[in-house]
Formats: sequence, structure tokens, C-alpha cells
Amino acid sequence: MDHAALDEIIRSRRTIKPPMMSDRPVSEEDLRALFENANWAPTHGLTEPWRFKIYRGEARAKLADALAMLYETALPAEDQKEGKADKLREMARLAPVVILVCMERQKVEKIRELEEIESVACAVQNMHLTAASRGLGAFWSTPPFIYKPEMNEWLGLEEKDRCLGIFYLGYPAEGQKWPKGRRRSVDGKLEFIDT
Ligand SMILES: Cc1cc2nc3c(=O)[nH]c(=O)nc-3n(C[C@H](O)[C@H](O)[C@H](O)COP(=O)(O)O)c2cc1C
Repeated sequence: MDHAALDEIIRSRRTIKPPMMSDRPVSEEDLRALFENANWAPTHGLTEPWRFKIYRGEARAKLADALAMLYETALPAEDQKEGKADKLREMARLAPVVILVCMERQKVEKIRELEEIESVACAVQNMHLTAASRGLGAFWSTPPFIYKPEMNEWLGLEEKDRCLGIFYLGYPAEGQKWPKGRRRSVDGKLEFIDT
């Protein structure tokens, strides 16, 4: 195992938003690797609740209009911001691949919903890391309307399923520097209990 390589990927993974992406298509091989690795996320009770809807090519225009429409209809007017619907429309058109991250609720509801959400988050992290290792930028976006019933309806999800994010994916645009990350030291977040 190459520990140093793993450390490097984890620490250099960065959020790169669609305006910083090129329109270069994402290779089938890279995309497949993302989903294969997502599929190896930990999952309580082996429910494997992650589901992905992948928009590419012309389908992005349809998605772009739907996201703008959902923003304007699913959110109360007082929660809407000037220009946000247009921004959503633009982002879905700029990124070569847009993945709607969903959670399929287990029918028997034996596993807690929180744990199913956690499991999907692990799957997203696997995708994010795989993207970084292949020089791909990604952005996990969670505008509040994705949690509304209107979103489920548009996606054809069951009532208890959830959309947990919009994952934009693409290679960084030419001349675009890989962003630098920052974190506060982990030391203040640890409490070792040894005796
Ligand atoms: C569950 C989740 C939801 C997020 N939603 C948003 C979002 O709606 N808008 C946004 O600008 N960033 C969002 N982010 C990305 C964070 O802004 C980003 O991870 C943070 O700034 C740290 O940057 P890095 O990913 O490059 O380390 C989200 C991240 C997570 C884990």
C-alpha cells in the first residue's frame, strides 16, 4: 500500500466549481472508476443506498432549466436570491458531467435514515477522491430546494428517497491552478482517552 499517495490524494482533493472547468468530455474510464469506487463505500446492513443520475451532453440543458424552475417554485419567494436561478442554469451547462446524488430509502426501514445518508456521503467522498486522483475537479452542491418534495417528484424518486446533492464534474480549465486548501489543525478536535 502506498500510504503517501493516499495521504496526498486526500489532502489535495479540492472543490472546483463549474466556471473553473473546461468543456473537455470526461472519459468513460474515469467516469466508470468514480462509480466503481463510490460503490465500495461502507454501508450498514449492506443496503448500498447510493443512486446516481448522470446528466451529460444535451440532457444538461434540460436539467439546467429544471433546476432553475425548481429553485423558483419549490422555495418560498423570501428564500430566493436575485440571479441564483440563472447561476444554477449556467452551472449545469458548464460542467461536462452533472451527477444528481440520491439515496434510495430501504423499504423495511431497518437501518436509520441518518446512517443511509452517511453511507451516501462516504460514496460521494470516494467519487471526489477518485476524481482528484485523475485530475478531475468536482463540486458537491446542496441548494436547499433539493430536499423538497418537488425535487423528488421531478427525479421520479419515492417519497422517502432523497436527493442529497448536485455533483458537478470536469477537468479544470486551461490555466486554472489547482486550488489550495486550508484546514484548522486537527489537534483541537481530538480528545485521547487512554486511562
Ligand atoms: C455535504 C456538503 C455540501 C456542500 N454544499 C455546498 C454548497 O451548497 N455550496 C458550496 O459552495 N459548497 C458546498 N460544499 C463544498 C464546500 O464548500 C467545500 O468542501 C469547502 O469549501 C472546503 O473546500 P474543499 O472541498 O476544496 O476542501 C459542500 C460540501 C459538503 C460536504
